[in-house]
Amino acid sequence: MNVSLVQEVHRRLADVIEAGDLCLDATAGNGLDTLFLTQLVEESGTVHAMDVQEDALRITADLLALNEVQLRVTTHLSCHSKIETVLPPSAKGRIRAVTFNLGYLPKGDKSITTSEETTLPAIRIAYEWLVRRGVLSILCYRGHPGGKREEEEIRKLIQEQGWKNETIVGNDSEESPVLHWIEKD
Ligand SMILES: C[S@@+](CC[C@H](N)C(=O)[O-])C[C@H]1O[C@@H](n2cnc3c(N)ncnc32)[C@H](O)[C@@H]1O
Repeated sequence: MNVSLVQEVHRRLADVIEAGDLCLDATAGNGLDTLFLTQLVEESGTVHAMDVQEDALRITADLLALNEVQLRVTTHLSCHSKIETVLPPSAKGRIRAVTFNLGYLPKGDKSITTSEETTLPAIRIAYEWLVRRGVLSILCYRGHPGGKREEEEIRKLIQEQGWKNETIVGNDSEESPVLHWIEKD
């Protein structure tokens, strides 16, 4: 994980999310982003968290329980391209923020990574399900096989859709992580 871009994501999320909001972590992983979202939405808010790995959801659940915020979260063992079938229909058009922290589970199985075949549909649906002025945070890692192509395809999608986007690159290296921060009109 690139700490400074993760910090940048959290700084931006803190500016946007309010108590009582509804949020989605599309890649729960070790649960750090999910936990951060629960702290911003406070007791009156709700967070959904998705991951394809049982291990990731177990680690996330443990972290949430340790911080006594588990009642604010529903976890889903599912690919994030299935948002429409997994989240309650009442969430459509009400989500304040969706976080994607792409790639593989740190300290986990590096062969299980996100990939553009499912990331792109997931991003399209996530944008649709945002409330007006809601945000999509997409943190891309270009240093692992497929990561560079995935980031390029995301860039193309953002251009094609004409979404309002800021791109922040971690450092000068071609393999640097990239953050796409998208705000819905
Ligand atoms: C970089 S980690 C996420 C880090 C996490 N947000 C955190 O704060 O610890 C990426 C996660 O994406 C998950 N993932 C891979 N493909 C996925 C998919 N199609 N749908 C949902 N999650 C997926 C992996 O299992 C992994 O846990």
